[in-house]
Amino acid sequence: MNAGVDGYRIIENAPLRARNTFGVPAVAPLLVEVTRASVLPELFATAMPTGTCPLVLGGGSNLLFAADPEGIVLSLATRDIRLLDDDGETTIVRADAGVVWHDLVLWTLGHGLSGLENLALIPGTVGAAPIQNIGAYGVEVREHVHAVEAYDRSHRGFVRLTGTDCAFAYRDSLFKHDPDHFIVSAVEFRLPHAYTPRLDYTGLADELRAMGIAGAPRASQVAEAVMRIRGRKLPNPDVLGNAGSFFKNPILPAAAAQALLADHPDLPCYPGDAPDTRKLSAAWLIDRSGWKGRREGDAGIAASHALVLVNHGMASGRQLLDIARRVAADVHARFGIALQPEPRIIGATW
Ligand code: FAD
Ligand code: EPU
Repeated sequence: MNAGVDGYRIIENAPLRARNTFGVPAVAPLLVEVTRASVLPELFATAMPTGTCPLVLGGGSNLLFAADPEGIVLSLATRDIRLLDDDGETTIVRADAGVVWHDLVLWTLGHGLSGLENLALIPGTVGAAPIQNIGAYGVEVREHVHAVEAYDRSHRGFVRLTGTDCAFAYRDSLFKHDPDHFIVSAVEFRLPHAYTPRLDYTGLADELRAMGIAGAPRASQVAEAVMRIRGRKLPNPDVLGNAGSFFKNPILPAAAAQALLADHPDLPCYPGDAPDTRKLSAAWLIDRSGWKGRREGDAGIAASHALVLVNHGMASGRQLLDIARRVAADVHARFGIALQPEPRIIGATW
């Protein structure tokens, strides 16, 4: 197939080790790489067997291959970013699903636009950003999602979803609950001209001070500070395989959180999405369960951050899943909290 002409190409028995940041071995029987999203309807009508539910693979930074994917794997290699609209107060930027997320952040900063700076250096693609409503350093992407363009498999056509349609919540969205329904083809972002630095997250203001920045920082300086903190805390997947936080921070009713805090006053506790809920630190729970820095064979927990499951080289997805289950079992035994994984697990259930 000629990707330039057809808008897609098919690769048989495609190795996926370099396409997932855990660096675990897996093989896709068929990998369809799409270079033009407009071919999706034709692709589903002709080249895909009826009922096919392809696994959409972005940068593979929030996936664990516990086994080879069974069906077709679809990857969007679409790369356009453009200014869509500007009403004098807000700029709308549209980016294709295949754009690398951090490249979009740099593009917006380069165009004098702010809003995404706290989300600098999150691995992966634009298309995956709404799936778990990526968040970091006090900002979630939902705050800036104007619309999500997606191919709707049940209606066999493109739809445009508003932020409300997407049902965003902490590390959650409509897409996460129904992963076979939508293929995100592009995202439109709303970036207000008025710039308000968001510096509430612990350590961010200190980092700016350490950089010698006094007073209100520019958006690019906030991005720089975020990158410096991330570089210290989180292992670089090019060096040590990982998918960032392996577990979500658990959200509990306020009363249950209060009961735990009575016994563990240093357990970090933040407001939850809903009233009368609290979000607790999964890293702290894992750390206090003695897992930080532990290694069994090539699978383990990072020494720099207790929430990061790591592949020291040759661990399989199964071995990583096994250790993650034992971490969760220990946390449950000690604190009565059932941790939930953040990445999508392929070939096994949690
Ligand atoms: P993938 O891992 O390829 O896919 C993730 C999920 O999205 C899968 O279910 C997949 O099927 C689906 N998907 C992907 N693309 C599409 C599409 N176009 N349409 C429909 N479904 C799609 N996340 C945060 O929120 N905050 C962080 O601070 C953060 N830090 C990280 C740090 C490190 C070092 C790493 C490795 C990961 C981190 N993550 C973080 C997780 C990860 O970067 C994000 O979840 C990211 O959005 C995943 O993008 P991806 O393209 O790699 O998605
Ligand atoms: N902590 C420990 N031990 C550790 C690490 C952290 O006890 O080894 C405690 C500390 O008290 C620290 C607190 O946990 O103050 C919070 O740590 P951190 O600021 O690193 O945040 P996090 O809750 O562990 C979340 C996200 C990250 C995101 C950061 C910054 C989740 C699951 N994780 O981590 O997102 O980058 O905040 O906003 O919400 C990801 O989703 O993959 C991810 C990396």
